[in-house]
Amino acid sequence: MNLPAPRLIDPSSVPSLRWGILGPGAIAESFATTVLANSTQRIAAVASRTPAKAQAFAAAHSIPTHVSSYEALVARDDVDAVYIANQPNDHFAAAMLALDAGKAVLVEKPFTQSVDEAQTLFAHARQRGLLAMEAMWTRYLPQMDVARQLLESGALGEPRLILSDFCQDNRAVARMWRKGHGSPLWDMGIYPIALCQMVLGEPASIEARGIVLDDGMDAETTAYLTYDSGARATFTVSGVVDAPHHATIATEEGVIEFGTPFVFPTSVGVAGKGFDAPMQWWTNESPIRRHAGLVYQVTAFADYVGRGLLESPLQSHADSLACLRVATEIVRCLGADPY
Ligand SMILES: NC(=O)c1ccc[n+]([C@@H]2O[C@H](COP(=O)([O-])OP(=O)(O)OC[C@H]3O[C@@H](n4cnc5c(N)ncnc54)[C@H](OP(=O)(O)O)[C@@H]3O)[C@@H](O)[C@H]2O)c1
Repeated sequence: MNLPAPRLIDPSSVPSLRWGILGPGAIAESFATTVLANSTQRIAAVASRTPAKAQAFAAAHSIPTHVSSYEALVARDDVDAVYIANQPNDHFAAAMLALDAGKAVLVEKPFTQSVDEAQTLFAHARQRGLLAMEAMWTRYLPQMDVARQLLESGALGEPRLILSDFCQDNRAVARMWRKGHGSPLWDMGIYPIALCQMVLGEPASIEARGIVLDDGMDAETTAYLTYDSGARATFTVSGVVDAPHHATIATEEGVIEFGTPFVFPTSVGVAGKGFDAPMQWWTNESPIRRHAGLVYQVTAFADYVGRGLLESPLQSHADSLACLRVATEIVRCLGADPY
């Protein structure tokens, strides 16, 4: 089977938005670096509640304006869109602030702490006629588009089973173990959850077991999901050991296999059935590697703003809500309490 080429948006074909960044930490650093190197987007301002942090970030990326309050940033006339890159328990308030000021928002994952918050945020954005998008960057990576085309072509039949994992020893990453700031399931598990949701939709049943720490944080989770179509998905998420971040979609007629880690711009292969079925690969030859891949979602966001869209066609509001519902149910099954 021939693999289709990914349908990528030409960065020069989309509006050059003037971005404001809230919460200039680790991921904002990756965002700014790739946006300035690999897109036509501009960064107009950055805000941190620690003034020196905003100042240093602005200096490092030649950003003309730095401010020490989120209110000051969203009020600026030279900002079109706001990237919300602070901790998950602050995403909702920061995004609502930006929407109230008339700015479109790209909100880091995990989008909000609850389904209710996400619903409120999306309704508010829609009411104001503004794009609100979860920064589920993996959906915009080239290999995901190749996989989507393979599935849409029907040549492999229906997807039946997804196997994936996201295991990284993140014991040294403080934010992941702080109540309200994520937890391995919400922070990392949201990637396999989003992959399963993209391919199979919303599950009919969810089971999960794992390791829950004394303070209620989930450290490791194995989940088993079933779907009305008869399909199944299973994934393991661990914040205490490393594994290769693999993802496989087994279909009626064959297999789609992602290169590892499936969450970076890597590769995707397709094969028929059987031990000896040769796998054909599409491999990312672009110099855009690792977190530089964040740029694909940013270019897509600008494209959607230019087209007047209020939600992403690749991860709709309903998709984000469905993923949060799955995460919430897994936490319930585990008896965990990460927020
Ligand atoms: N897409 C990806 O691949 C990816 C990778 C890593 C993280 N993320 C997501 O990006 C978001 C930020 O993660 P990060 O690693 O960049 O975080 P980080 O570097 O630890 O901090 C980012 C910002 O969060 C606020 N913050 C940090 N520690 C805080 C604390 N103890 N209390 C209150 N606020 C605090 C600060 O905002 P102010 O400066 O404004 O105070 C800080 O600038 C999270 O939602 C995370 O899940 C995404």
